[in-house]
Amino acid sequence: MTFSLGVVGAGQFSGQFTKLFNAHPLVSEVYVTDVLPERASALVERQQLAGTFAGFEEMLASDVDAVAIFTQRWTHGPLVVQALRAGKHVYSAVPMAISEEEIAAIIEAVRETGLTYMMGETSYYNPATIYARQQKDAGAFGRIFYAEGDYVHDMDLGFYAAYQYSGGEDWHKTASYPPMLYPTHSVGGVLGGIGGHLTSVSCIGVRDERGDGVFDKDVSMFDNDFSNATALFELDGGGSVRINEFRRVGYPSHLRESRFRYFGTEGSFEQIVETAVWQDKEGVTDVSGQIDTLPSLPLDDPSLADVDPALRDAFVSGLAPVHDPSRLPEELRALPSGHEGSHSFLVDDFVTAVATGTLPPVNAWEAARYTLPGIVAHQSALRGGERLAIRDFGDAPASLAAAQGEVVRN
Ligand SMILES: NC(=O)c1ccc[n+]([C@@H]2O[C@H](COP(=O)([O-])OP(=O)(O)OC[C@H]3O[C@@H](n4cnc5c(N)ncnc54)[C@H](O)[C@@H]3O)[C@@H](O)[C@H]2O)c1
Repeated sequence: MTFSLGVVGAGQFSGQFTKLFNAHPLVSEVYVTDVLPERASALVERQQLAGTFAGFEEMLASDVDAVAIFTQRWTHGPLVVQALRAGKHVYSAVPMAISEEEIAAIIEAVRETGLTYMMGETSYYNPATIYARQQKDAGAFGRIFYAEGDYVHDMDLGFYAAYQYSGGEDWHKTASYPPMLYPTHSVGGVLGGIGGHLTSVSCIGVRDERGDGVFDKDVSMFDNDFSNATALFELDGGGSVRINEFRRVGYPSHLRESRFRYFGTEGSFEQIVETAVWQDKEGVTDVSGQIDTLPSLPLDDPSLADVDPALRDAFVSGLAPVHDPSRLPEELRALPSGHEGSHSFLVDDFVTAVATGTLPPVNAWEAARYTLPGIVAHQSALRGGERLAIRDFGDAPASLAAAQGEVVRN
């Protein structure tokens, strides 16, 4: 079965995905809408897509089978629920949402409609995460009791330009987006590697001192002045996870913006910018060669025209030896991926889930586990590091049909 897709938001990111969705043999047509209609028409023209819709409502009223949300990061929750309630399968860029209530509403809507929801967490296919998943499945870690995930991206490295493109004249208001409300690249890479969920958190926020009106409470639409934050989480079943979300940091994020460490009783994995090692009680093995990616597109490719040069490395970063391209349809293997090779796999996960009625790996229940810990961490930081409990929505049901018969846990 093939299906049609409507993409919501034609900003800096979605064009990398429309070309993959459009090439997938199970997707019949790709449409685009944007509140700035010229962005939608330009994307449709550039990639020869099926057409535009005048707005989100018009797209939902149409007969497209699925929608993919690529709007600004704080907007996803309500749009996702509206799309599910309109009978559409939904792919959403990260994060899932920005409040526990929004997350609960998405899970409820998925449960009631039986439709596919997937969050496009790029760290799920980060080579370090895949490597950790493989080592865990092989039992090489022993008992995993500690892990770290860092999303280390300085505002000077492309984010000023991205927020200006995204927010227009009011960009200062939105560039202050709280770091812990964008936790999925760090938390998702940890839990995507070792599974499980986080049960409580204590978080420290660092108040910004740049004084340029970005992380300024009086300007911020999020009332936020934290530009860096560090959280210590408790892992279900015992153990801890430390997460860093840094936006003011002397670090080459264009070379590696997410990085991970996982420690077990028998083995451990540690990663810095250019090196990754596997360690056991005998010694150290350099595994950098397995997780290093190759660029899949030239940095001056015309499709990156709207992307600030400092952000382009991530957009072009292709597959690593640890990836398994053989699972992808050949049409996707022939195209560039991005964000450490993840884009093609995310597109294929969503398309396969919709076409076969199966749950994708980062389904609503898993997405909640990657997102809600950061939301609660931000609340903890606002309360001076007070340790707070994190609600868990449970394991994903065995199937969407089973989900429809389930009672939501409170
Ligand atoms: N590694 C990653 O996973 C990664 C990387 C980059 C961006 N992202 C995510 O992708 C999303 C998009 O990022 P971006 O940089 O392209 O943002 P952007 O601001 O460049 O683009 C968003 C577009 O959505 C449009 N839009 C907003 N609300 C709309 C609505 N209701 N209907 C139609 N159009 C609407 C805007 O006009 C804009 O053109 C964000 O949520 C971001 O978090 C994820």
